[in-house]
Amino acid sequence: MRALVLAGGTGSRLRPFSYSIPKQLIPIANRPVLAHVLDNIRALGVEQVGVIVGDGSRQIREEIGDGSRFGLAVTYIPQERPLGLAHCVAIARPFLGDDDFVMYLGDNMLPEGVGVPAAGFAAARPAAHVVVRKVVDPRAFGVAEFRPDGVLERVVEKPDRPRSDLALIGVYFFTAAIHRAVAAIEPSARGELEITDAIQWLVDQGEQVTAAEYTGFWRDVGRVEDVLECNRRLLADLRTGVEGLLGDGVRISGPVVIEAGARVERSRVEGPALIGAGTVVEDSEVGPGTSIGRDCTLRGARVRDSVVMDGVCLTAPVELRDSLIGRGAVIGMPSGDGPYRLIVGDSTRIEAAT
Ligand code: G1P
Repeated sequence: MRALVLAGGTGSRLRPFSYSIPKQLIPIANRPVLAHVLDNIRALGVEQVGVIVGDGSRQIREEIGDGSRFGLAVTYIPQERPLGLAHCVAIARPFLGDDDFVMYLGDNMLPEGVGVPAAGFAAARPAAHVVVRKVVDPRAFGVAEFRPDGVLERVVEKPDRPRSDLALIGVYFFTAAIHRAVAAIEPSARGELEITDAIQWLVDQGEQVTAAEYTGFWRDVGRVEDVLECNRRLLADLRTGVEGLLGDGVRISGPVVIEAGARVERSRVEGPALIGAGTVVEDSEVGPGTSIGRDCTLRGARVRDSVVMDGVCLTAPVELRDSLIGRGAVIGMPSGDGPYRLIVGDSTRIEAAT
């Protein structure tokens, strides 16, 4: 089996971040979403991975390289414009050949892994095996409708009046039968080749299409809230590991990771919390539910339930919560009249004029 990871797309709901960082590289527990995706794929025993890349191509290639760090062989497949999930399958055809494959959206977080649906697919080898999950508002998704006997009857892309609350989430298993379907369908009203239409084509042809219901934690990191929630979920499994330097007056409670090369002084760190390599924390309070990237400086800062990316500088008595701070941002405020909630993109400066 091969894997096809979709990491094109514009990430419009994650602006301003997506102007400068592909959403697939947003860090969750200090590792890019895409790294978590590739871990799950490797856990299936898959080695050959095609990654569809668009605007964020350069950064993604820099981060993932040839995939060997993940035990994978990665082939990059450029997509000029986001023309739909089924279009990704079409342009990946030379890479996929006639092999079975798992298609995995590169912005989806499923920390429990996808071993269960993969086993379901391997056992029966239907033409398509989709992963569905109950969602509150199915109108934003492809929706699966089932007959009373549980057989999948119809899949509809973003219906106005959904007839089921089971949404297709970002993991699909296919045999080579999908290529005929992709070749047969036409672009949708939004001008994209929809994978949902290709799957429906298979159903109409009498091919076997099955679904696995996923009940574990799942988010696509479309919005800031999703990033923060994924981060909290992953940090919940954190195990203490302090390799950095602890100076005087440091109090630590709960599960805390302080990476080698980080330094913490006169501060309180309340787990779950992660402090990346090269970061300096002084006279500050960090956590719970917080990850601080690499090479950051925190002086007199209080940060909880937040994601702070690499190279951020928080100086002054600033109190933050539920915040997402982009790479290399600089924030200095005059007083501790917080908490503030900041959604700050890369390279932003927020300073008090004194
Ligand atoms: C795409 C699919 C949709 C699926 C969703 C999962 O939607 O078209 O069927 O439910 O991914 O995240 P898009 O994110 O392109 O709007």
